[in-house]
Amino acid sequence: MATMITTADTVELQGRVRELKKLKNAVILAHNYQVPELQDVADFVGDSLGLSFKAKETDADVILFCGVHFMAETAKIVNPSKTVILPDLDAGCSLADSCDAKGLAKWKEAHPDVYIVAYINCTAAVKALVDIICTSGNAVKVVNSIPPDKKILFVPDQNLGQWVTAQTGRQMILWPGACSTHVLFTHKAIFRLRQEHPDAEIVAHPECLPAVRMMADEVCSTEKMMSYCQNSPAPEFIIVTEAGMLHRLRKEVPGKVFIPGPTDSCHCNECSFMKKNTLEKAVAALENLSPEITLDEDVRKRALVPIERMLALGR
Ligand code: 13P
Repeated sequence: MATMITTADTVELQGRVRELKKLKNAVILAHNYQVPELQDVADFVGDSLGLSFKAKETDADVILFCGVHFMAETAKIVNPSKTVILPDLDAGCSLADSCDAKGLAKWKEAHPDVYIVAYINCTAAVKALVDIICTSGNAVKVVNSIPPDKKILFVPDQNLGQWVTAQTGRQMILWPGACSTHVLFTHKAIFRLRQEHPDAEIVAHPECLPAVRMMADEVCSTEKMMSYCQNSPAPEFIIVTEAGMLHRLRKEVPGKVFIPGPTDSCHCNECSFMKKNTLEKAVAALENLSPEITLDEDVRKRALVPIERMLALGR
């Protein structure tokens, strides 16, 4: 797991990031799964929903987005006059890869009356085809806002979709996508760990498989994990999501013990895409204002419509 070892190099690079941030009038937005040393230089660290609001609200000239590609794309969609840079353009997402725009367009043509809800973990081209976007933090609210007579297709995460159906009672057609990191958590590995920590609560992300979600005390977005662990009286928590989450929990919820959720082969679980961003790459991105996110203007405008519908529902 990416535990933080602060070296002289880290301190120097973080200093350089702060210097460049001022020079370029940049804001640094980081997802909860980023490496600790990037989280610690960010102006805002949060979940996909919080980051979307921050990207829209900023008046900085440059957004350095420390997250994965679809997140930086979302920032560009909502704030097109800003220069949006991503430390590593190869920071992708298995969920976004599991639903291609061509396939979805074909499906839509065959089912023109179906209302399409897309999890924010998808490309701009997919966003441009759908009716509303949701994140794990507001998926229940978004689905509850859809008129009851509408048939719904939920893309691309079938696990989040199943969880939303269980919460809302709303049947939906589910696109067969999944997060390659979250599906690695198993009931067996977590059950064993719970036996060693009988007082620990299990907090899981809704992208996990049903057998894992079923054993959790709480299923929620990464931001809600923060408030849940703050407010729960439990002394220990098994955190069943990408291991980057533990940095903020340990920093902001002192005095409690956070244990990473295990897979069958590893005591913790990391998303290799999220870990592509590094401090060195962040420095280079700020120096060169590159790699930059650019979008076709027609796609951007169409992708903005379902995002704005989501943002209008509030935080
Ligand atoms: P959150 O919005 O809960 O942070 O989830 C983001 C994500 O991509 C999970 O894999």
